[in-house]
Parts: sequence; structure tokens; C-alpha cells
Amino acid sequence: MGRISEENIEKIIESNDILEVISEFVPLKRAGRGYMGVCPFHNDKGPSMSVSQEKQLYHCFGCGASGNIVGFIMKIRNLDYIDAIKYLGERAGIKIEDEIQDPQKLKYEALRNDLFQINIEAARYFLSNLFNIRRALEYFEKRGIEERTIKKFGLGYSLDSYEGLYKYLKNKGFKEEFILKAGLISKKENRVYDRFRNRVMFPVYDIKTKIIGFGGRVLDNSKPKYLNSPETPVFFKGTNLYGLNFVIKSGLPEYIIVVEGYMDCISLHQHGVTNTVASLGTALTIEQAKLLKRYCKNIFICYDSDAAGQAATLRGLDILAQVGCEVKIITIPSGKDPDEFIKNFGVDEFKKLIDIALPVSEYRIQMTRNGKNLKDAKQKSIFVNESAKILSTLENEIEIQAYASKISDETGINIKIILDEIKKIQRSKNSNQNNKTNNRNNNTSGNIYNLEPAYKKAERWLLQMALTNNDYFKYIMNKIDLDDFITESLKIAAEFIFKVLDSGEEVVPAELLLKFTEQQDITDISSVFEISEKIDDPTKLIDDCIKTINKYNIESKINELTIKIKSHEEKNEVVESAILSCELIKLQKQFNLL
Ligand code: UTP
Ligand code: MN
Repeated sequence: MGRISEENIEKIIESNDILEVISEFVPLKRAGRGYMGVCPFHNDKGPSMSVSQEKQLYHCFGCGASGNIVGFIMKIRNLDYIDAIKYLGERAGIKIEDEIQDPQKLKYEALRNDLFQINIEAARYFLSNLFNIRRALEYFEKRGIEERTIKKFGLGYSLDSYEGLYKYLKNKGFKEEFILKAGLISKKENRVYDRFRNRVMFPVYDIKTKIIGFGGRVLDNSKPKYLNSPETPVFFKGTNLYGLNFVIKSGLPEYIIVVEGYMDCISLHQHGVTNTVASLGTALTIEQAKLLKRYCKNIFICYDSDAAGQAATLRGLDILAQVGCEVKIITIPSGKDPDEFIKNFGVDEFKKLIDIALPVSEYRIQMTRNGKNLKDAKQKSIFVNESAKILSTLENEIEIQAYASKISDETGINIKIILDEIKKIQRSKNSNQNNKTNNRNNNTSGNIYNLEPAYKKAERWLLQMALTNNDYFKYIMNKIDLDDFITESLKIAAEFIFKVLDSGEEVVPAELLLKFTEQQDITDISSVFEISEKIDDPTKLIDDCIKTINKYNIESKINELTIKIKSHEEKNEVVESAILSCELIKLQKQFNLL
């Protein structure tokens, strides 16, 4: 995170009083224990924004905007986290540049620079091997990779030798200690040996095209298929997207396609689909989603069409939705991966797949339809119910109508019944989530609460209740596991809040908020500290929230299992499918009991 240390960030936040800072933008008037002002973030008529000096938080009852002072500055000045901190640092007269002189930091930066240098040299070595060893070059030729592509991605080959790279790097003057730290060699009983041997090599670049690590693939069918660099001071798993540096080189694209593998990404680029990145592995992480969102909000997921790929797609959808991306899903027909597809059918056919990519809700409906026999009354009703649930999350009435009409055509079930079911689900969600604060938000635009999934609202309520009094906290802690939390930021918040409360101390909002740098997270977390209005039946509210969360978790498991079972069935793997079916039945029972 930039060059600003945690301590300095803390100091900067502490040196800026929220009342003073906000007063520079909006006049504030005392009202009760806090202050009120006209909200600068929506077309506010009366003063709807309250500012609490005690908690160092602001909250608008009109548009739902809320957060700490950093969030306020990010929003009003349209700055990212680091720049907002710098703005506040300047305002408080705290020099941020000072810490670049910090000797420990300097040393670490120097180490990172050395590792980048070593990686460049290693990549050079791998590349030259490739052109010297026929077998290796033939591998790429056989897979249709052209020389210009090899050069663009800096592909290479690691010799079938225990110290080829090690000796090469030593010769270049790099010390063993650093080569070890770069993850390029391993050490066992005082002997060092190359980590990558007899593999075609894929350098992994960061956003500035610095080489942060490598992936190496075997040339045959042996295992493991890919070996990757370990975590090093320059390589962190799940924070990077392969190919993103090439994507943004020629300006920001209209949309970005996310594939699973190195080869998929490279192959699409070669065929001219140069807005492709790879998540490298199956599930997209929240960091990767945030990184994507920074460059482009329209994302197309294009994973393998096998069961693992489908499960990963579903998980990726949730994560991308969480950070606010617009997502569509590209389905590759006949079990191929994107690389095979574009090689066999060409770029025009691939573009057609992009054109018919499914929006999230349609994809979800398709997934629930898969494997169901709609002629069977029971399965048909499950399908309609599940689809209604999916559609109940949509905002746009016309969209809901259109989908419902399709489902009606498909199943022969009267559209009115389907629409009623959707309304029923929406109503029960609304009444679950209580209360007047949210209703007041309903008429304003840009309101996050409406788009929020039910489980997320439930998670926020639980934390808010836990903070209200110690009895609720104990009750909640006994009933829910941290692992049950679904929203990443709220899970982090729960961990923090539970720990503090459990040790009998008081939760300081600012301390928790320091852990977050995204505007959305800051807004979500600070809303947990809002003063809630009186709740008639707190235990029931807590129970309902926990139920909502459990339901979602079990449902996700059911979805995943259903996909797996289907894939076993397709392959006629009767035993595996039977075992999973037993599990599925158990889960369904659990679900029905909720
Ligand atoms: P795939 O097996 O789909 O890779 O795994 P691929 O890129 O299509 O490879 P080819 O076409 O068989 O050559 C997707 C990604 O998962 C990671 C790699 O990043 C790979 O690109 N992976 C896969 C590993 O890290 N280790 C493995 O053993 C397998
Ligand atoms: Mn492949």
C-alpha cells in the first residue's frame, strides 16, 4: 500500500477531526449529541447528514453515504485511499515523504529491486534456452503459439538440469541468498537446486510489467502440470492477474475477459482478443476483483465448462458482484477451454460467444435448470421456485417480467403465479431487514441497500446487534461461526469485533476502519456503527439473520454439489454420484429445517 506506514496513516487520521474537515465543505449545526448538515452527495433538501465527533463517523440518512474522514474525502474529492490520506496528511501538516528515509523500508525496497533484477535475468535465460532446445520450441509450435507471442509474453524453457539457472545467475553476480529469496532455487541439506526443471516457463508480470514470479508447465502429462513460484517479497498469490499489464497498455478496454489459465490467456491475445487476463487457478479472489474493478467495471468470465470451472464461475460472480462489477458469463460449448475453442473455430466464432454471453441472473437460472427434468412436476416446481429466488434480487421490473415470461413459457406455469412468488420473496426480505432507516433510503438513487444481497444485510445487522449490548453479543457468538460470514469485509470486521468484545473491551470504530481502503468497504463497515432505532424483538431479529446466513451457505453448498453430481453422471461415474447424492439429501434436509 503505497509508501505510507500504518502508524503514519493512524497519525494522519487522528490529526484530522471529522467535524473540522467536513465543516470545510458543508456547514454543520449541533443537534443533540451530534451535528447535522446538508449532504453533499445527493440532492439534499434538509440537513440529512449527521456527523459524530465522538465516533469520528458521518452518516447520511438520505442517501446512505457513511464512513470515516478518509471515506468522506475519497468520495467528495474522488480520490483513492492513498491520495485521500495524502490530502489529509497535508492538511494536518504531516510530512509523508519522511518515511522513505526509514532505513528498514529502504532495505526492503532494495531487496525487492534485487529480486526483480534476478527475475529478469532468469527470464532471459529461460527464453534463450527455448530457442536452443528443439523439443521445447516444438512444444509451443505444436500448440500453435507463434514466435511473436513467445516474445510478447517472454515465454521460455527451464533445462532438465539441477543447477543450470543457479550457475547462470551466480555467474551474473547474484548471491545465493537472493536467488533463494526469489524462489528460483531450493536448498536441501546444504545443496541447492533449480526449482524449475524441464518445463516451459511463463513469467508472471505485475501491472507495471515487472516480473514477479514464474509458472512452469511440464511438456507431457506428468504431474504437477504447473509449478509456480512460492510467495516471495515480490510475489503474492491471488493478488495479481496474469496479462493485465498487456491489457491496459493500449488504454482502458471497454470490457475485460477473465479466463483460468496461462495458455487460455496467451492464446486469446494471439488471436487478437487482447483484453484477456487469467486468474491462474480456480477461484477469483477479492483482491483480484478489486484490481479488475480499478481498470474496468464490465467483466466477462470465461472459465472451462467442466464442473470445477462452473463452480469457480459461480464463486467468481459473487466476488465480482461484491466489489460492484457488471458481469456476464461466456459459455464455451462442447467441453472445450477457451484456448482450444479459439484454435479450432477462430476468433469470429469466439466473438459470437461474447455476443451471446449471459447476464448473471440468466446464467444462474440456466444453472438451476441444468440437470432438471422439467416434465417431472416436482423438479419443475423446484426450478420455478429457485428461479423466482434469483429474479427476486433484480431491481428492474421490466427485466423481471421478461425473465418470468420465459420461465412461464418453458414450464407452462402461469406467469402471474411466478410474479406473485417473486413479490412474496421480495416482501419477506424487506420485512426481515426491518426498519425505518432503510425505508427512508428507498427513494434516493445510488442507494446501496437495495442492491445488497439478503445475507449481507443480515451480517451487518448481527454486528450492529453485537455492538449494542453484551448479552446480544454472547448470544450471537454462540450461534454463529466466523467462517459462516460470507462477505469478506464483514468477516474481517466480525473477527475484530468479536475479539475485542470477548476480551471485555470497547470497540473503537476508527481502529477497525484502518483495515479497509475501499470506499465500499468503509461504507459497509461504518454502517455497522450507526445508532439503530429501537428494535421490538431483538432475539428474533438475530435468529432471522443467522437463518438467512445459514440458508445462503447451505444453498451454495447444494449448488456446488448439484454441479459435481451432474458431471459425475455425465461421465457415468455411478458410485461417486451416489455418494454425493447422499450428502446432497442431508443438506437439503438441513435446508428445509431452517
Ligand atoms: P488448466 O489446467 O486449465 O491450465 O489450469 P491451462 O492454462 O489451460 O493449461 P494447458 O492448456 O493444459 O496447458 C488453469 C490454471 O490453473 C493453474 C495454472 O495457473 C493454470 O494455468 N494450475 C493448474 C496450477 O497452478 N497448477 C496445476 O497443477 C494446474
Ligand atoms: Mn488449456
